[in-house]
Amino acid sequence: MRLYQRRLLLLCTAAAGMVVVLYTLLQTASVQTLRTTTSIWLTKQNMNLCRFSKLPMLFEHSNDYYYVVWETTCTSGAPLLEWWADDSTRFSIEPWYRQIDHTHHRYTAIFGPVSNASQVHYRINNYRFSTKQYTITRRTKYEPHRVLVIADNQDGPSEFRKILTSIRRYYGASSNPDTILHVGDAVQTASHLDDWQRQLFAPLEDRNSLQHTTPTIFVPGNHDHDKRRVPNNSNIYMDMYHGINDTDGLGKIAVTNGSYHQFYHSVSIGCAQVIVLDAECPSPEQSEFLLQELQSEAFQSARFRIIAVHIPPYMEFWDPYAWEHKGEKHWGEHVRLEYDPLFRKYNVDLVISGHQHNYQRSTVHRAPASGLSDTITYAIVGGAGGTLDLERVEDRNMYNATYLGHHFVALDISKQSLRWTALNVDGRIIDQFKL
Ligand SMILES: [Fe+2]
Repeated sequence: MRLYQRRLLLLCTAAAGMVVVLYTLLQTASVQTLRTTTSIWLTKQNMNLCRFSKLPMLFEHSNDYYYVVWETTCTSGAPLLEWWADDSTRFSIEPWYRQIDHTHHRYTAIFGPVSNASQVHYRINNYRFSTKQYTITRRTKYEPHRVLVIADNQDGPSEFRKILTSIRRYYGASSNPDTILHVGDAVQTASHLDDWQRQLFAPLEDRNSLQHTTPTIFVPGNHDHDKRRVPNNSNIYMDMYHGINDTDGLGKIAVTNGSYHQFYHSVSIGCAQVIVLDAECPSPEQSEFLLQELQSEAFQSARFRIIAVHIPPYMEFWDPYAWEHKGEKHWGEHVRLEYDPLFRKYNVDLVISGHQHNYQRSTVHRAPASGLSDTITYAIVGGAGGTLDLERVEDRNMYNATYLGHHFVALDISKQSLRWTALNVDGRIIDQFKL
């Protein structure tokens, strides 16, 4: 080979190597986090193009409806959400619009009923820009359902990205869970717009884009909450759960006055029934709702009965000073003292919580005299990215498994069984059980 050919080959090899290194660097969690921060800054300086800043995120809105939220950096004409089930008629919905500030233009829409459709498609159309078509695959009641359970990614976008990568590895490149159960604390500060972008939407978009086609069941955490009953509250992206059991309410604007602030609801996942509670806002209404739901035919006849509530009934790890001296040991007392006796009385199988930033799981008998198989399981899954809780503040002498690291849970529900598999960021199984 001549000298100039060798030099050319060397040059090409070096260039290819640099491309690989650059591509790898751009995919790292810290560089992606930095890129999001830069993009937010550019938007604030009015130096970013008019574009989607949040592509659609999909939420369950009772069993037959979906709630979608998206956002643009400018007003974008007259957008429409188009949806259709299987090959049937297409529907167009005019979304609700809320200008949060001059660079945050939020749109929300509720669509359905989708009834028994096995596939539902939707996209956002308008005169300036549109999204691609997204397809939601729906399971029948007795088909196996794959549920991804995460919580407390708050303030840990790099770690959250690593968890999302591990989730992608677990489900495979071309397969998604059917539902995401997010058990609260998606952001550090609900009123900070940047937190929503940096800590939730951008990591989801960069790593999995699951949020477009896998609906999320969202359980409000203490950090996601603005407890003011005012129209322009700071529940900026998660205010969809108003009036969820009231069909007439589906047509109302999300928050029109102080009367709409209801996050508690119930929803089915296959043959399991899930009651979502708002740990931050105990109220006579929520207590009444819980009792009614626990006693309902839908809950009692469900194959598996599940509660999702951000604050666990039984905590063991927290910041010791805040626990003892700032009154934080009392935050979840109503969950333990008022709700948990009802969970046990009405045959709840599984209570899923976050809040405590590590993993714990306890399976105990519902009552001292109950049979061997008459158990209730408490699981804490607060490890999707937030700073870990490593200091023990209580010893309840009840937990079968404890893991002080970041993690997620794959929950597989079928007619035959409920399988729970907790995995760490490396994809190693840290705990599993079957009901
Ligand atoms: Fe929390």
